[in-house]
Amino acid sequence: MVESSEHVVAPAAGVVEGLDHWRTLEAHQQPPWPDAEKAAAVGAELSEVPPLVFAGEVDMLRDRLARAARGEAFLLQGGDCAETFAGATADQIRNRVKTILQMAVVLTYGASMPVIKMGRMAGQFAKPRSNDEETRDGVVLPAYRGDIVNGYDFTSESRTPDPARMLKGYHTAASTLNLIRAFTQGGFADLRMVHSWNKGFARNPANSRYEGLAQDIDRAIAFMEAAGANFDELKRVEFYASHEGLLMDYERPLTRIDSRSGEPYVTSGHFLWIGERTRALTGAHVDFFSRVRNPIGVKLGPSTDVAAMSALIEKLDPHREPGRLTFITRMGADKIRDTLPPLLEATKALEVQPLWVSDPMHGNGITTQTGYKTRRFDDVVTEVTGFFESHRSVGTHPGGIHVELTGDDVTECLGGSQNIDELGLETRYESLCDPRLNHQQSLELAFLVAEELAQL
Ligand code: PEP
Ligand code: CO
Repeated sequence: MVESSEHVVAPAAGVVEGLDHWRTLEAHQQPPWPDAEKAAAVGAELSEVPPLVFAGEVDMLRDRLARAARGEAFLLQGGDCAETFAGATADQIRNRVKTILQMAVVLTYGASMPVIKMGRMAGQFAKPRSNDEETRDGVVLPAYRGDIVNGYDFTSESRTPDPARMLKGYHTAASTLNLIRAFTQGGFADLRMVHSWNKGFARNPANSRYEGLAQDIDRAIAFMEAAGANFDELKRVEFYASHEGLLMDYERPLTRIDSRSGEPYVTSGHFLWIGERTRALTGAHVDFFSRVRNPIGVKLGPSTDVAAMSALIEKLDPHREPGRLTFITRMGADKIRDTLPPLLEATKALEVQPLWVSDPMHGNGITTQTGYKTRRFDDVVTEVTGFFESHRSVGTHPGGIHVELTGDDVTECLGGSQNIDELGLETRYESLCDPRLNHQQSLELAFLVAEELAQL
C-alpha cells in the first residue's frame, strides 16, 4: 500500500454540504449511550486522532474493485464476525493474515487472475443485533453489540454501553493494522514464502493439497528467476482493511477531508459495508455513506427486490463510478438460485456494473439443539456454487467472496473434511457472535471457489 503524508482534517459540521444530513434521519442499531456528554467528548477526541488509512490507498482500492467488477480480478474478503479487543494478539492476527494469503494463493493459481486481499479486520468491532436485549435465567440485560460498545460478560456493568470503548476500538484497530502492514510489506507475504504460511497449522487434507500447489508455484518462480525475471513485485502484497460501517459515533469523527481533492473519506478502514439491517434507503447509514469517497458495500438478503436494489444504486452510485459500489449477497443456500438471477438481470438492463460478492455465511445460520449457533459447510458451498451458477446463467461477473473465518483450529461450523459434528462443536467454540470457518475449512472453500473460477 502506498504510504502518504497527506494532511487531513476532520470536517466540522456544515463544512461539507450534506455530510451531516444523516443526523436528521433514523439511525438503526445505535447504542443508547447512558452519558451523552461523555460520548460527545470521545467523538471530539476521535476527530483529532490520526487517520488509520489514507485517501490514496482508498482510491487505489476503488480502482482494484473496478477491475473485479469487470471480471478482471477477484475479491477475497474475510475475517471474524466480531473482532474482540482480547483477540487482537500477534498470533491470532498473523494466523488470520496467513489464512487469507493462503486462500488468495489458491484462488490466484486456480483462476490465473489477480486476487484483492481484504480483511474483515482492524475495525470489525460493532455488531447489529436482532434483539436489543438478552434474557438469561429471567435476567434481562442489553444485548452485546460488539467490544466497541459494551462487554460480553452478562453483568449489568459490562453490558452498559461505554463510549470510552470507541477509543479503545480505535487504538486496537491501529495496532492491528500496524501489524498487518508489517506482515504484508515486510517480506512475510513474499510469494517465495508460500510454504512457510502452511507451517504451524495442523496437518490435514486441505493443507496437503495446498503444499502440492506451493511446490508448483516454487517451480514456476524458480523457472522465471532462472529466465531472468525480476521479482521485486512478489515481496509485498496489497492488503486492505474493511468493516461494517455501523457505529455512527465512531465513523463520523474518523471522517476526514482529503487535502488534494477536498472530499470526505472515512479513515477507519479502506472499505465499509452497510449491513442487511441498516440498508434502509431513507436511513442514516445509506445517506452518510453516499457522501464519502470510499468504495461502499451493501449486504443484500433474500427479501431484496429490484426496486430496492435500483434505488440503492441511484443513491450510492449516481455517477456509475467504477469500483464504487459492491453488492454482497447473502441469500441462503436454498434461495440464492431464485433470488439472485432477477437482481443480476436488472443490473444488466440498467447497464450498471456493481461488484458482486457472495457472502455464503449470513443466510445459512442454524442453532443446534444444544444451543450452538452454527453453519453447515455444505450449505456454505451450496450458496457459493449457486452464486457462480447464477452469474453464468445471466452473463454477469461473480467478483468475490466474503467469509467469516479465523486462522485458528476452532470448531464452530459443521462439516468439512474434518467432519465436525454437533458434539464436536463443543471442542473449541470461541466466537462471541457468528460461527467462523476454521483454517482447514477456509482452505477447502478456496479450492472449491478456485475450481469455479477456472470454469469461467
Ligand atoms: C455481518 O457481516 O457480520 C452481518 C451482521 O451481516 P448481515 O448484515 O449480512 O446480516
Ligand atoms: Co456475522
